[in-house]
Amino acid sequence: MDSFDHLSEAVDYLKREAPQPPEVAVVLGSGLGPFAGELADPLTIPYESIPHWPRSAVIGHEGKLVIGTLALRRVAALSGRVHFYEGHPLAAVVFGVRVMGLLGVRALILTNAAGGINQSFPKGVLMVIDDHINLLGSNPLIGENDDRLGCRFPDMSEVYSKRLRTLADHVAREQNLSLAHGVYVALHGPSYETPAEIRFLRGIGADAVGMSTVPEAIAARHMGLEVLGISCISNMAAGILPEPLHHAEVMETTARVRGQFVALLKGVIERI
Ligand code: HPA
Repeated sequence: MDSFDHLSEAVDYLKREAPQPPEVAVVLGSGLGPFAGELADPLTIPYESIPHWPRSAVIGHEGKLVIGTLALRRVAALSGRVHFYEGHPLAAVVFGVRVMGLLGVRALILTNAAGGINQSFPKGVLMVIDDHINLLGSNPLIGENDDRLGCRFPDMSEVYSKRLRTLADHVAREQNLSLAHGVYVALHGPSYETPAEIRFLRGIGADAVGMSTVPEAIAARHMGLEVLGISCISNMAAGILPEPLHHAEVMETTARVRGQFVALLKGVIERI
């Protein structure tokens, strides 16, 4: 059985469970799971009941798909993602995004917690991802191309939709929320970066660093989905402040700005 068959089994299962297909999918990063609680008439499907769907074991990441309604739109919230550093192949990391694409979702919102490399960013600010740098040392499209998903050499000149980035700015202005913009660099982790690595990443043009999002964005663009990425700058990257990095700080900051993050996502989805 090839991986497209696995995707199709998951898609068929979800079509049976949720006959009204989602139009928008949101991948919820560390600490953002509660966004799923905003959906009306929610149908909650644990990842383990979806055929072939991989599960995450990271604290702060739940493992469920919630499909419901927000501002008259059908929305799928992926509460919990799997990461490359957990040992999953990238095909597993992007499995959920591909299932969403095959279900007919046209816009994908990717959220994450990230370390701030740009020293002008205050901790807790939300950053619209304008572009990314892939330093994972791998790519989810490696291997034989499946033309049913997309082409062999997909264009990456506008991974993060200009239209959706502008929409996010518009919604933030209305909510009196100040948004940052920048380039997200993905490293595979799970160790945090060294101060020397952070200086290097600043030098190559990165504003924020994290361990997710990029594979999902690449797989989504391969399928032609429109992508928006938003990072919560949960901590200053290594070496900026005279203190070590802890996952607890990441969780604490994302919990603190969760209300703003949820309001921004709602505002964007209403007008997507
Ligand atoms: N580095 C990498 N990933 C992260 C960080 C960081 O500082 N903060 C949250 N995710």
